[in-house]
Amino acid sequence: MKDTKVLDLNSSYSYLMWCDIFSETSIVAEKNGETLGFISGYKNPNNSNKLFIWQVAVDASARGNGLATKMLRQLLKRETCKDIHYVEATVSPSNRPSQSLFKGLAKKLDTDCHISDCYVTEDFPDQEEEHEDELLFTIGPITTENK
Ligand SMILES: CC(C)(COP(=O)(O)OP(=O)(O)OC[C@H]1O[C@@H](n2cnc3c(N)ncnc32)[C@H](O)[C@@H]1OP(=O)(O)O)[C@@H](O)C(=O)NCCC(=O)NCCS
Repeated sequence: MKDTKVLDLNSSYSYLMWCDIFSETSIVAEKNGETLGFISGYKNPNNSNKLFIWQVAVDASARGNGLATKMLRQLLKRETCKDIHYVEATVSPSNRPSQSLFKGLAKKLDTDCHISDCYVTEDFPDQEEEHEDELLFTIGPITTENK
């Protein structure tokens, strides 16, 4: 996470807790014992057909080869995601790779990618370290056949 230099860093405790409690909707990609990719996600408690993707990271050495897309699709194929018909994520306007990832996912799933306002800079309490706006990407509806 730290190496990406664009993702918010959370505490080690929160990542440990995440891997214990949300392992069914999260995924790690490894090669020769080295971690190359990670996605943390959860089913929206207010809408159980939505999978919210919190953080996606692929090691710089492995980017551009479809790994993030593959991890997202693996998650969608899991039994726990059988009732998921939408993927949601928030993305900063400047994060082109992430925007391409979610737009590309929509294309591959033969569905739409709807982009709407979500959080704005002023919503973030730490005004000393300005946080970019976050746009909400909603991908779907996703059919079972296209997963
Ligand atoms: C965003 C990120 C996870 C993408 O991982 P990746 O494994 O390289 O993504 P993929 O190879 O699956 O690419 C998916 C799509 O994005 C496009 N893409 C990937 N990197 C890109 C870049 N730097 N610029 C433009 N498009 C890019 C790919 O061409 C592909 O498009 P396609 O579907 O039309 O073929 C990776 O760049 C990363 O870890 N970035 C730092 C952390 C971050 O920003 N995370 C997202 C916010 S939570």
